[in-house]
Amino acid sequence: MCGIVGYFGNKNGAEVVVDGLKRLEYRGYDSWGLAAVGEGKLIKHKQVGKIGGFDLKRDLPKFGGEICIGHTRWATHGGVTETNSHPHFSCDKKIAVVHNGIVENYQELRSDLEKKGHKFVSQTDTEVIAHLIEQTLKITKDKTEAVRQSLKKLQGSYALGIIFEDEKLMIGARKGSPLVLGVGKDQTILGSDVPAFLKYTNKVVFLEEFEMVAISDQIKGGYEIKNVNSGKTVKPKITTIKWDATEAEKGGHPHFMIKEMLEQPQVIEKTIGMGKGELDKAAKMIEKAKRVYVVACGTALHAGMYGSYLLAKINKIMVQPISAGELHHFAPLFKKGDLVICVSQSGETADVLEAVKSAHSAGAKVLALVNVMGSSLMRAADFSLLTKAGPEICVLSTKAYVSQMAMFVMISGALSGKISNAKKVLGIAKKDIEKILSKKSLEKIKKMSKSLAKAQNIYALGRGINYPNALEACLKIKEVSYIHAEGFAGGDLKHGPIALIEKGVPVIIFASDDESEAEIISNAMEVKARGADVIGINYRNNEVFEQYLPIEKNGFYSPIASIVYPQLMAYYIALEKKFDPDKPRNLAKSVTVK
Ligand code: AGP
Repeated sequence: MCGIVGYFGNKNGAEVVVDGLKRLEYRGYDSWGLAAVGEGKLIKHKQVGKIGGFDLKRDLPKFGGEICIGHTRWATHGGVTETNSHPHFSCDKKIAVVHNGIVENYQELRSDLEKKGHKFVSQTDTEVIAHLIEQTLKITKDKTEAVRQSLKKLQGSYALGIIFEDEKLMIGARKGSPLVLGVGKDQTILGSDVPAFLKYTNKVVFLEEFEMVAISDQIKGGYEIKNVNSGKTVKPKITTIKWDATEAEKGGHPHFMIKEMLEQPQVIEKTIGMGKGELDKAAKMIEKAKRVYVVACGTALHAGMYGSYLLAKINKIMVQPISAGELHHFAPLFKKGDLVICVSQSGETADVLEAVKSAHSAGAKVLALVNVMGSSLMRAADFSLLTKAGPEICVLSTKAYVSQMAMFVMISGALSGKISNAKKVLGIAKKDIEKILSKKSLEKIKKMSKSLAKAQNIYALGRGINYPNALEACLKIKEVSYIHAEGFAGGDLKHGPIALIEKGVPVIIFASDDESEAEIISNAMEVKARGADVIGINYRNNEVFEQYLPIEKNGFYSPIASIVYPQLMAYYIALEKKFDPDKPRNLAKSVTVK
């Protein structure tokens, strides 16, 4: 997944674009690049590596122009080289393109264009778009129309920024990858995500699927949105974003990861403050459904699993969790009257968006738990509950996970007509998290992580409502410290995984005051007997724990707080290993390609 920024206005667009790319760096950081039109010349700059330390005034003082596009890359086609970094250009170098997505038919288009004499310099799919527009312009003189005709030939997904040397015009377009328009005074800014330009304007137009926008002084109002297929003009819907720009910045913290973990108590607070109406609507969708599924990826799937345990335990409702990447094996069984709950922080995960299509084609309904307003999932679902995490920039999902679990608690409360009880238990969770995030507790985890950083393998065990946390804890650790970590259900231990236990291996035990406590403690004894270093998370200590991490008594709601311990472990292990927690290798914030 990559990040795109485009500026059209009366300032040096490169300043705004570089600032925006730095805010989108979580979307991809293999390489980055700029193209700008200043004094009638199209100029470019490309660089392998992260944009974080780049300073435009210091490093490229002469670079700029009132029209500028930029891109941070997460490589899909072609290695991480300067040539393959975006922007990409037409033969005559008068058209520049930045792209997030995949052109699935790029080979066929490329060979056809090569036969017409086009010379390619990169191995990317994106470069085809610049040459295709150049070729189309030979027949269709109007640039916006030539772009529209070219887009109709692309298969796959795109979010695009396109500029031209010989006309003051910037074009954006989206299909399958997010693209938003910031409409400010005397400036219009394209971005893959709102944080790219929130500092400049909070008035946003979320481009819909198959929409393109032409931005020019020659257009009344400064921009015009069209449907790519029909060519018809579309009336823009301007949304005012409630987030303030500082929320999408580090606010003095060394990393987004720690900042966002520290925000988790407020996230719960905001969830507690939700309106009853929307919760009741979601509850009715669940009550009416013949069968209920929860579909998500990664951390969001773990939150969905938590929700399935909660609704089974409290509301006696069966919710089948399915990984969105595996859904196509089960989607043919969806039926009219079913409900698919899609959980996603970004609302742009390709496999989850596929799940929505599968559900709708079977006549099933979709309820979304999504964190980004205006995201593709939010617009595609039949009804959405906006989770209260606020902008989550770090590639690792932490506060979003807690917000998703808290949302399931509120839904469960609405289903049992006891929202007040849901608010009470979330209040306990909030206080518990505040204790875990106290200075003394942070110091303790930081110290523990020094030895954990030396581990080759780390395991986690949980039963019932605590099982999803065992998986989530290990996902956090492996994502950011690159240590092999694996979570198991306590009941699975003796069916194989116990063979992995050897002297000194750390095993995190998730326990709480529920019916599984005794069984998970006996699992702890089994692994300790084989030499494991047991780290116990529970409301009370136990002699089997080498190290004990306390949580409050909160029954089925304990996992909302207990996950914070391994989140912190993952963060401090990464620091101990001198890794950047905000830019883990090979990962991107949102997986918008399948
Ligand atoms: C979580 O730390 C990971 N970054 C990843 O597993 C993530 O949860 C997953 O890609 C789903 O993303 P989404 O919530 O935006 O759909």
